[in-house]
Amino acid sequence: MNEISQPLLQLRAIRKAYRMGSETIVALDDVDMDIHRGQSVAFVGSSGAGKSTLLNILGCLDRPDSGSYCLNGRNVDILDERDLAMVRNREIGFVFQNFQLLSRATALQNVAQPLMYRPMRPADRVEQARRALDRVGLSDRGHHLPSQLSGGQRQRVAIARALCGQPSILLADEPTGNLDSRTGESIMRLFDELVEDGHTVLMVTHEPEVAQRCERVLRLFDGRLVSEKCNTGERNARAA
Ligand SMILES: Nc1ncnc2c1ncn2[C@@H]1O[C@H](COP(=O)(O)OP(=O)(O)OP(=O)(O)O)[C@@H](O)[C@H]1O
Ligand SMILES: [Mg+2]
Repeated sequence: MNEISQPLLQLRAIRKAYRMGSETIVALDDVDMDIHRGQSVAFVGSSGAGKSTLLNILGCLDRPDSGSYCLNGRNVDILDERDLAMVRNREIGFVFQNFQLLSRATALQNVAQPLMYRPMRPADRVEQARRALDRVGLSDRGHHLPSQLSGGQRQRVAIARALCGQPSILLADEPTGNLDSRTGESIMRLFDELVEDGHTVLMVTHEPEVAQRCERVLRLFDGRLVSEKCNTGERNARAA
């Protein structure tokens, strides 16, 4: 097969259930999906539909019960914990609704965190982290602690941390969920720019106007992927 046409990310028959005493909750049921490099994808659906479960599996934070997941040509299901941690570190940048920054570390140290597991000179780590902070417009806040930053700035630090290790995919679970609408809009503009730069971005959102900006909108219902909407025309119109 031609390498260019191969999806960056391929899910087949993914299933995940949680057992709670005698009850089984099926969080993901027979999910198939192909995502290509450079795409922007929004996962939508009501509360409990399985969006975070799906994103956590895509981010290798969790494993499915069955099915296969191929990321960047690698079958992730067969990896042991050590190799999975390596894939997580190299291939995935994760952005959370509540930022999840280390409170005692500066913005720059937070951003450099994914590089700590890589064999690099400390000065190169700092340089790479500086570039990522610069990319999100925060080069003058490197020495601030998270508590000394606004919510939008904290989310920018989290995005810089996700970008810093140059991962194949950026995953974001409700990245604007804790932000007021104006700050959320500026974070979405940043994601738009990252997609225009060629990044692959997958996000969960409850907000239709956020989903609208993504090329593909995939809807989950009761753990199943039930529909897809493409916004390609609108993206092109916006980019023009
Ligand atoms: N650790 C867990 N143990 C038991 N059940 C779980 C667990 N995590 C999720 N679930 C259940 O799996 C289903 C899917 O949950 P998930 O968090 O993926 O939903 P979601 O679409 O992200 O919802 P929300 O929009 O509220 O964040 C829900 O019914 C939830 O109660
Ligand atoms: Mg969720």
